Amino acid sequence: MKVLVTGCAGFIGFHVAKKLLANGNVVIGIDNLNNYYDISLKNKRLKILKNFKKFTFKKINICNSTKLNSIFKQNKIQNIIHLAAQAGVRYSLMRPKSYINSNIKGFFNIIECCRYYGVVKLLYASTSSVYGNQKKFPLKEDLNTDNPIQLYAATKKSNELMAKAYSHLFNFQTIGMRFFTVYGPWGRPDMALFKFTKKILSNREIEIYNYGNHIRDFTYIDDVTEIIVRLNKTKKIKKNSEIFNIGNSNPVKLIDYIHQIEKSLNKRAKKKYLPLQAGDSKKTHSNTKKLHKILNYKPKVNFRIGVNNFVKWYRDHYSK
Ligand SMILES: NC(=O)c1ccc[n+]([C@@H]2O[C@H](COP(=O)([O-])OP(=O)(O)OC[C@H]3O[C@@H](n4cnc5c(N)ncnc54)[C@H](O)[C@@H]3O)[C@@H](O)[C@H]2O)c1
Repeated sequence: MKVLVTGCAGFIGFHVAKKLLANGNVVIGIDNLNNYYDISLKNKRLKILKNFKKFTFKKINICNSTKLNSIFKQNKIQNIIHLAAQAGVRYSLMRPKSYINSNIKGFFNIIECCRYYGVVKLLYASTSSVYGNQKKFPLKEDLNTDNPIQLYAATKKSNELMAKAYSHLFNFQTIGMRFFTVYGPWGRPDMALFKFTKKILSNREIEIYNYGNHIRDFTYIDDVTEIIVRLNKTKKIKKNSEIFNIGNSNPVKLIDYIHQIEKSLNKRAKKKYLPLQAGDSKKTHSNTKKLHKILNYKPKVNFRIGVNNFVKWYRDHYSK
C-alpha cells in the first residue's frame, strides 16, 4: 500500500512512518521541517526513516498547494495519514497565525487533494483539546465539542467539520483521531515529559501549572502507532466520516507523573507550583470503547513503564 504520511519528521509521524515501512508499505513522507522546536531532532528522525528503501521524503509546506498537488500527480496515493500541523496548546496564544496557516489552510489543501486525486481514506490528527472543560468523564466522542477554550482546539474542531463535509460531498472516508497526550521516546521538546527531564537533569526548576492537579490520560507512543496502523488497514469502518478517541483511558495526576520522572531519573526536581494557565484543560480521560470495538485493541503501556522508556531514550540520546 502506498501511504502519504504528512508531518513524518514529527514525533507521531516518525513512529507511524517507521512502523508502516517495517510492515513493508511504501511511504511518501512530507514535512516542512519548521523550527517550532529543535530541527536537529526532526532531522535525526528523518535519517532513520531514510534507511528504508521504500521511503521517499519531500520537504514541502502543506500550505503550498502547487507543491502538494505535484506529489499527487506523480504518485497514486490511496491513503493519507495527516499529522502535519501546528501543535501545542500554549503556543496558540502566542502565535495564532501559525495555527490558521498549517491547521486550516494546510488542512484545506490536503482535503482538496483527496477530492481531486481519488484518495480512498484520510486519517487525520485531532485532539482531546476539542472537549474543552467538560464535567462528564470519561470523555465520549459524541459529547458536545462546541466550546473550545483555545484556538488550537478551534482549528482541530474545524478540521473535523471540514472532513465531514468533504466526505459527504466527495465520497472518500475521513477518520479523525482525537489524541490524548501522546508521550514516549523521540517525543516533543515542548511537552512536559521532555521539558521536565531536561530541566531536572540540569538542576533547573520545573514549572508545575495548576499546582500539579492537572489530570491527563497519558498515552504511550507505541500504543498510538499500533492504533493508527490498524485504522489505516481496517475495512471495518463503514461510515464515510468517523471520529475516534485515541487514549489510554487511565488518567494520571500530573504530580504522580512527575514523581515517576524523578524515580526514573533517580533525582529530585526543584519544583515551582503555579496557577492554572489560560487555555489549559484541567482533566482529560478518554472513553475508548468505540475504538476497541472496531480494532479489538486496547493501549497496554502503563505510564510508569512509558516514562521509564522515555528517560532511557533521553539519556542515550543526549548522553547525560
Ligand atoms: N503529541 C500529542 O500529544 C498530540 C495530542 C493531540 C494531537 N496531536 C496532533 O497530532 C499531530 C502530530 O503531533 P506531534 O506531537 O507529532 O507534533 P510534531 O510537531 O512533532 O509533528 C508535526 C510535524 O508537522 C510538521 N509541520 C507542521 N506544519 C507543517 C506544514 N505547514 N507543512 C508541512 N509540515 C508541517 C512539523 O515540522 C512537524 O515535524 C499534530 O496534528 C498534533 O496537533 C498531538
